[in-house]
Amino acid sequence: MKNDEVIDSLPIYAVSNSAKLGYQEKETWIKLDWNESPRNASPKVIEEITNFLKVHSLSYYPDVTSNELVTAISDKHGVPKDFISVFNGSDNALQHIFYTFLSRETIFTTIQPTYTQILQFVNFKGGKIRYFLPDDVLNIDYKKFGREYLPGSDVVYLINPHNPTGHLLSREYIESLASANPGTLFVIDEAYMEFASSDESCVGSVEQHKNVMVTRTFSKAYGLAGIRLGYAVSHRDNIDLVRRIKNDKDINTLAQIAGAAAVADTEYLDDHVKTILENRKWFLENVPERYGATDSEANFVLLSYESDMDLLSRFEQNRILVRDRSDQHGLKNRLRVTIGNREQMERVVSVLANSKTAEMEA
Ligand SMILES: Cc1ncc(COP(=O)(O)O)c(C=O)c1O
Repeated sequence: MKNDEVIDSLPIYAVSNSAKLGYQEKETWIKLDWNESPRNASPKVIEEITNFLKVHSLSYYPDVTSNELVTAISDKHGVPKDFISVFNGSDNALQHIFYTFLSRETIFTTIQPTYTQILQFVNFKGGKIRYFLPDDVLNIDYKKFGREYLPGSDVVYLINPHNPTGHLLSREYIESLASANPGTLFVIDEAYMEFASSDESCVGSVEQHKNVMVTRTFSKAYGLAGIRLGYAVSHRDNIDLVRRIKNDKDINTLAQIAGAAAVADTEYLDDHVKTILENRKWFLENVPERYGATDSEANFVLLSYESDMDLLSRFEQNRILVRDRSDQHGLKNRLRVTIGNREQMERVVSVLANSKTAEMEA
């Protein structure tokens, strides 16, 4: 059998150890490594799924138009239905977008650190990859990025709010980039936009800016990471191109029901976001100063630790999962902690307060 050269050159994407835990085992840990929700999805989601299972059959394929869900998303954002396509998570939306718009000839540009999962898709399909490596990742010089890295790019990927720094870009700024670079496709990953202090979503920009594609997810604020659901919003011409390589049967019936019920329950979403923001505030007020915690516009914060601290193993001993981001550009000795419920954050603070540097121990 002759292997494809590109496939041969690719590594298997390395997931963190926690990803390998079975779902029952996961619940015995405090899971603050993947920015999931500490709260289950809305009770209305559970009710709708249960009602469906009681009355209907799973023996038929799903609605290939995902009509109820797409209608709910269209109403929520005020964009036409044919500007929306739903996927098995926003990862899957991004995968389809990059497979559609990247080729060996295209230039793909992004800022490091970035959301590493997308590199798997870009490396498979992409041509030339341009990384902007900021000197100070906590104060990214976006002007320099716009001036020096954007010109000539075919596809640009921006995360807003940014993972893992939690920085929020304004919609106005992204629109100005899109206007100044009409030949560039801007893929804006808004996985955490629900947590931002002001709504800077570019979903409302797509009718005017045909070169903007936005991805959103149900995995974070909606508490539905396990169901795998996300969507892309862009001009219908872009959506139609992506749909050429998409199998519309892939969005399973239960995910469609869950998504529609979740969008409808705005009260539950608002309450959840409010709680996470309160917990983030509490955590930042209570985390010992020596960890240099940085505020964020998302459901996570970055902490810095000294390399000789055994902090990571202390977290593990306490069955708390956090994400060491030291392997990413500009993030040596920094780890990312998802904001969970109050009790979980109290446990994190307690581990941090009891952890010592080598200097303190001497
Ligand atoms: C920036 C970013 N985009 C997308 C995702 C994945 O979202 P989904 O679960 O919808 O695939 C994540 C998950 O951590 C993320 O951090």
